[in-house]
Amino acid sequence: NNESVSTNKKRETFSSGLAVFFATLGSAVGLGNIWKFPYLVGENGGGAFVLIYFLSILLVGMPIMVSEFYIGRKSRSNAVSAFTKLKANPKWKIIGYFGVAAAFLIMFYYSAVAGWVYSYVFKAINGAFSNLSNFSFEQATSIVENQFLTTTESLYSPIIWQGISILVVALILIGGVKNGIERITKTLMPVLFILLIISCIRALTLPGAKAGFNFLFKIDFSKINPSVILSALGLAFFKLSLGMGTMITYGSYFTEDNNLIHTSAKVALSDTFVSLLAGVAIFPVVFTFGMKPNSGPSLLFNTIPLVFSHIPFGNILIIAFFILASIAATTASLSMAEVPIAFITEKWNIKRKYSVIIVSLSTFIVGALTVHPSSILGHVTIFGKNFFDLFDYISSNIILPVGGLLIAIFVGYFVNKDSVLDELSNNHKLNNSKTITIYYFVLKYISPLLLLIVFLNSLGII
Ligand code: PFF
Repeated sequence: NNESVSTNKKRETFSSGLAVFFATLGSAVGLGNIWKFPYLVGENGGGAFVLIYFLSILLVGMPIMVSEFYIGRKSRSNAVSAFTKLKANPKWKIIGYFGVAAAFLIMFYYSAVAGWVYSYVFKAINGAFSNLSNFSFEQATSIVENQFLTTTESLYSPIIWQGISILVVALILIGGVKNGIERITKTLMPVLFILLIISCIRALTLPGAKAGFNFLFKIDFSKINPSVILSALGLAFFKLSLGMGTMITYGSYFTEDNNLIHTSAKVALSDTFVSLLAGVAIFPVVFTFGMKPNSGPSLLFNTIPLVFSHIPFGNILIIAFFILASIAATTASLSMAEVPIAFITEKWNIKRKYSVIIVSLSTFIVGALTVHPSSILGHVTIFGKNFFDLFDYISSNIILPVGGLLIAIFVGYFVNKDSVLDELSNNHKLNNSKTITIYYFVLKYISPLLLLIVFLNSLGII
């Protein structure tokens, strides 16, 4: 029950391997796939970015995910105390503290975008997109673009929707690990897949399908530069919820018999598949309607209503799509919020309920004041970025990759190798020593090196 987490005597765990898979996939799949992945692909030149992204997942993302699972399950503790539990030098706790900070930074703007998505469900129900097919391409495009502007720039409604999205997450989290996180993710993740596939099939029948497909998959090596690589790497961390203790926290709820390496591979590949599906649903529209692929965060909102605009049951499908996008945003938010919630609950020894309230309220207050163009601090810029972009940049491109680097160094060089081998083979009950050897090699020599090169390069040092 809920209190068992707070006293830490009998911590909750997920109930089965399937529950572990869906909860972890629920953390990975989110606005990152359907909102961020497409627009970053658009801004960073298409297929070449997709390729670098894929390599980042394979060589950096998956090994770090396994390492976080290791830290979490072995310590059965939150992202900060995990390091003490593993008897590491207390300095390593800094990874956990930065993780808690990153969780807040991401939640500040993620909850705002989740609010936009929630509000699109209601717009769609109210028929905002129902007669798009009566207009020319240009008119239809400008109607959806205006909808986006009113959604994000009105005075109160984006803040109210942000509050609602935070409230939903809080209510689920009060339920705890099994009754909250597990129940919701297990039911809803499969439905999301199906709906995305329908969207793809429709998008592929549009006249711009070929151009969209080419944009996504054709690799133009001249597009690759250090900032593209840093963005792809940052996205890999953000996508797989890595580098900030989320997978340490979820790992701490994993069952003893879970195969950590398999789980990470299944989650990373399914997640990447979902992102590609989103790309296939979105880019054909971009090229059919003559939009700009690099139009940034509005991309999802300006394309999806058009995907469904000329087909039977299109209106219902738009509603369903945004419901599912809301679900994806919600299940990902659960895991983000769980990082500070598990930490506060265990650190202060308070009831889970109270830490949920503390975390949700602070997210709402700072988020509402900073990220909306119409809010008090909406137009303040720092280093030429508004808060929305700043929170995103600092978390995705700095804290998460640095956190990931430290985690790789910690597990690769500071943890006793036998302890890692025992945990990853479930005390030698699994016969997976070859995979562990590959994992260990990549984690020790490849992931940290790649991360270092990318950083030094982006700082202009090499
Ligand atoms: N992985 C989520 C997404 O792609 O939408 C975002 C995310 C969730 C980032 C949880 C970080 C995190 F801890």
